[in-house]
Amino acid sequence: MNSISTPISIKERVLVTSALPYANGPIHIGHLVEYIQTDIYVRFLRLMGKQAIYCCADDTHGTPIEINAKKQGMTPEQLIAKYAKEHQQDFADFQIRFDSYYSTNSDENKHYADLIFTRLNEKGLIYQKDIELTYCPSCGRFLPDRYVKGTCPKCGAQDQYGDVCEKCNAAYATTDLVEPYCTVCRSAPKRRTSKHYFFRLSAMAEKLRAWLDGNASLQQDVKNFVFRWIDDGLQDWCISRDGPYFGFLIPGETDKYYYVWLDAPIGYIASTANWCRQQGGTAEDWWQSDDTDIVHFIGKDIIYFHFLFWPAMLMEAGFNLPTHLQVHGFLNMGKEKMSKSRGALLTARQYLDMLKPEYLRFYYALNTPAKLADIEYNLQELRERVNAELLDSIVNYLHRAASFCNRFLDSQVDAVQEDETTHQVDALVAQAIEHYESINLRDALRAILEIAGIGNQQFQEARPWKLVKEDPDAARAIVSKAVNIARILTILLKPVLPDLTERYERILGEKDLTFRDIGWHFAGTINQAEPLLEKIPELTKLQAAATTGTSPAAALDLRAAAILEAKDHPDADALVILKIDLGSEQRQLVAGLKKHYPVESLPGRRIVVVANLKPAKLRGVQSNGMLLAADHDGKVMLVDSSESPVGTPLTFSDMTPAPVADLDIKDFAKIPLQVVRGKITCEDKTLAGASVDAPDGANVR
Ligand code: MSP
Ligand code: ZN
Repeated sequence: MNSISTPISIKERVLVTSALPYANGPIHIGHLVEYIQTDIYVRFLRLMGKQAIYCCADDTHGTPIEINAKKQGMTPEQLIAKYAKEHQQDFADFQIRFDSYYSTNSDENKHYADLIFTRLNEKGLIYQKDIELTYCPSCGRFLPDRYVKGTCPKCGAQDQYGDVCEKCNAAYATTDLVEPYCTVCRSAPKRRTSKHYFFRLSAMAEKLRAWLDGNASLQQDVKNFVFRWIDDGLQDWCISRDGPYFGFLIPGETDKYYYVWLDAPIGYIASTANWCRQQGGTAEDWWQSDDTDIVHFIGKDIIYFHFLFWPAMLMEAGFNLPTHLQVHGFLNMGKEKMSKSRGALLTARQYLDMLKPEYLRFYYALNTPAKLADIEYNLQELRERVNAELLDSIVNYLHRAASFCNRFLDSQVDAVQEDETTHQVDALVAQAIEHYESINLRDALRAILEIAGIGNQQFQEARPWKLVKEDPDAARAIVSKAVNIARILTILLKPVLPDLTERYERILGEKDLTFRDIGWHFAGTINQAEPLLEKIPELTKLQAAATTGTSPAAALDLRAAAILEAKDHPDADALVILKIDLGSEQRQLVAGLKKHYPVESLPGRRIVVVANLKPAKLRGVQSNGMLLAADHDGKVMLVDSSESPVGTPLTFSDMTPAPVADLDIKDFAKIPLQVVRGKITCEDKTLAGASVDAPDGANVR
């Protein structure tokens, strides 16, 4: 039915994982795209009678955790303990149920990291080499990927991190970045030599190609990516980092650590060992046995690690390779991937304070095809689709079937005779299962919704509320069929809506139903129907503002500021150099005001500054930010903030600001700011606390 789906054949025992979230920030609803779909798949496997275990952990190592702990006055251990607790509470509240949720900062992980490192070393796959790295003299540390930004050496996208380009997916070294800068202190880093350990990935190309070639269930678009990387030539992989670092020391070293991405995937094994410690057996039973399958769920940003480094490590260290890797796209907000380092973000907790987890689970399942499509977060659309497809079509049907049975049949249900409808439904059940097996949740739900459609239609046409007086036997048959269909729907929906379906099982007087219980034989007495779930209410303006976050102006950090000093730029006719007061700090700014304002008239003026603009040099002079001015017929007029105290953050009406760090001037230029009646506006929003003496329609920049 669907050519995209390839059923994944799975043995009786299967280990399923999701990528390990960094213990460096809250779980947000972008992460949940992954954890919800993995949870659905594991529940499905279990309902099919497989022995499936779901293992995950917090990814706890690396420089960011060490730096952030310091910033917050904690040890890294305290910081990761805090997030371990928060993450697990968030997951539990979304009905995501792990069999083992562990930590990469564990004895087991150290054990397996050392074991794998040693085995690779013994095979001659690890060597040492001096390399030039990016070092920030003012911070006193080597700068890891995430602490250097610059232009992607492959595609030229600006403001990319030092490891992978989010625009073109290219992987590279920090020293390959064009025009790099330290994201902590903003200074230009230096190069410095250090001895490091390398894994010979270059020697693994053909083995990896053969593995990929031989695996039919992997998504084709992902394979194509990876084949292209292999064709381009694989680079050896640097697997060590210099201190200060939070991680495991490399055996025999005093200030060199495993790179976080070496021990992170090993965390899958450590988490399995954690499960085994409590439930019996050993991790080797899962990672070195012929009777088990391993399935990883990951996002498309970490394909390189999971399709190249990780399988290469596993095959050479004597562990099984994953049977399947399921790659998903991003949850975007305003066209950008939702992430801690980008602008807009909705945490799992913020969502839960607003709406029920069922809605998001269902919405994500509706939007999870077997391929790499992104999802654009839109609360309005979520509400409409969930209310129509979950509430009107399914929940309402379940409720009606049970309450009719209570009212007109004394809660008694008969088994159903086979007929055309039961055959139609049986065929859809088979389709739903096939789609679940292919991790094509979207089409599984489509088949389920078709079943609900058939049920609804029959109910509507037969009008049992009338029939019950005219032909009680016929009415009994119709309602019994409705309850049996409701029961089938319940079983099919158990992976997606575990709590809700459990409540309905109780109404049916049943428990722990599995896919084997699907059929038309259900008969007996049911319990009193109870409401299962209400519709999503009208979204208040507040909710909409807090969650769309997509007005381009939300990216701005605007502040009321005062000019302290002004002088001519030595090498540019049109420019002046300003010293400004931002309340919390003073900054230097370069502005093109010379032709429009006498320099001596500038000190004392109250202006509006874009405080998060990426610093730049203008004709050799550093400028840290930009002031707002209106531009009309070649005349430039400063935006005035004298109505607001110096330092006040200025915001647009009804908009939650989500300032982007180091806003690029090109991105700033795309934000449509205009003058309307002496105020600055962006689309339909008005900037409070500032004004400008310029005609309507003048552009602001
Ligand atoms: N720690 C690494 C993974 C190590 S696995 C051995 C990592 N952590 S993460 O917290 O950044 O992301 C965890 C998972 O969530 C990744 O698979 C990532 O793709 C996914 N997502 C994070 N943000 C996402 C969206 N906005 N949308 C969809 N998935 C996203 O990567
Ligand atoms: Zn620095």
